[in-house]
Amino acid sequence: MLVSAPPRRAVTPPGPCAMVIFGAGGDLTKRLLAPALYNMARAGLLPEKFALIGVDRVEATAASWGESLRAALAAQAANPASESELTAIDPAAWHRLAGAMAYVQGDLTDPALYHRLRDVLNDTAHAHGTGGNVLFYLAVSDRFFAPVVQRLGQAGLAAETEAAAGTPATWRRVVVEKPFGHSLDSARALNRDLLRVLEERQIFRIDHFLGKETVQNIMAFRFANGLFEPIWNRDRIDHVQITVAETVGVEHRGRFYEATGALRDMVPNHVFQILAMVAMEPPSGFDAEQVRNHKAEVFGAIRPLRPEDAVRGQYGPGTVAGQAARAYRAEPNVAPDSDTETFVALRLAIDNWRWAGVPFYLRTGKHMSARHTEVAIRFKPAPFAPFADTDIAALPPNWLVLTIQPDEGISLQFEVKRPGPVMDLAAVRMAFRYCDWFPHEAAIGYETLLYDCMIGEATLFQRADMVEATWRVVQPVLDAWAGAPAPYFPNYASGHDGPESAQRLLAEDGRAWRPVGAG
Ligand code: BG6
Repeated sequence: MLVSAPPRRAVTPPGPCAMVIFGAGGDLTKRLLAPALYNMARAGLLPEKFALIGVDRVEATAASWGESLRAALAAQAANPASESELTAIDPAAWHRLAGAMAYVQGDLTDPALYHRLRDVLNDTAHAHGTGGNVLFYLAVSDRFFAPVVQRLGQAGLAAETEAAAGTPATWRRVVVEKPFGHSLDSARALNRDLLRVLEERQIFRIDHFLGKETVQNIMAFRFANGLFEPIWNRDRIDHVQITVAETVGVEHRGRFYEATGALRDMVPNHVFQILAMVAMEPPSGFDAEQVRNHKAEVFGAIRPLRPEDAVRGQYGPGTVAGQAARAYRAEPNVAPDSDTETFVALRLAIDNWRWAGVPFYLRTGKHMSARHTEVAIRFKPAPFAPFADTDIAALPPNWLVLTIQPDEGISLQFEVKRPGPVMDLAAVRMAFRYCDWFPHEAAIGYETLLYDCMIGEATLFQRADMVEATWRVVQPVLDAWAGAPAPYFPNYASGHDGPESAQRLLAEDGRAWRPVGAG
């Protein structure tokens, strides 16, 4: 039973708007955006006046596009393992979405497409009362980000208008997916290209990890409780481990992954977003700029990585979750002598008063032993143990573990006395699991983020300076690896938690990784 359960804060639907999805026929749209929009429709979180416009190269009509999305939802509903967790499609919610659809076919680099899009936007503004507000979503390959935004600008589609004579102001926003650049230079160039057309406040750089409830919960845990913040620093914390372990391999994404690798794919974005939640200073308010300023400060304080603080791995053949798994080099569209890393482990230093001397160890990889994402905070030992024959160094440490996925929850490990006549100690774990306290609601994480875009709430989105600061940290390692291909790949078997060198990275500091999935 909840200790205190004030009524949920009412969430009202956003004001009128149209949403334009570039890449309407793509995987992201089918797998994540359509289910998220459907969930929003079901929960009453879509604007009452709404239009959904698909843009893609493939020939389609509003009806056939809608049908392809509905079929994709139905397939997910029939698959209990799908990410969307849908079990059935509610016809009323689907009708709400389908009734709002339009489709524009064309080549993303063709200026004529944008003129057609302008006409459709005008028509839908009249038909659906969207008020001229438009959310453009770039669900396309990153090479199209700048060209699409440039053409939106040329067609006058990025321009907002101010309120005048009884007519409300209109807004235009652009959601940019990852990857945001492949390096510091390319991220800077992309920022420059976007900012030539748009104001920073119009750009929503999305990182879907920030849509995960338990990532957001790190802020609630730290800043809504007086208990933890006083010990959340170098005086009491020995080190922090962040693990994002996946059992999936690269699946059908070999081409993308070959050019990306684990470091670019996961670290400057997802893993650093978790790190920022753990390491940031408490903001004095939750408006977007205050929160993002504090995160930006953390990124700015991370010491650029030295190559000796980074370990890379690539999976060979093995067994994952009881199934035989092939080597990365045998995956489709992967070179048989590929040097691309599928695992990375890093040792980071944050140069500020709170964290000086507290290492942050990060690791992420594919084909590991379990799907498990956690932040584990190890506290310093008691300074002295007044128990006879007890070696202080032998006492198990206090761990605070925030499990992000799956089995979302929080646990604390501490020492207790074993019942009996002598002072005998044992480590126990106190655990909170979300599923024990809150009903599970099917959500894929994009719902919150799309809702925020529609209401113009940018707290959970990356700013230009933040993106560049994260690339600055990892760039020295990217450069070092580009200049020195890994001669020893593959160096971990599928189903194992990275190469031996990842263990050595911590052993050098007298520490060890927690077993993956230890909870
Ligand atoms: C994506 C990466 O951004 O995040 C993938 O490109 C990765 O490689 C995925 O598998 C992980 O996200 P989630 O939500 O499945 O943990």
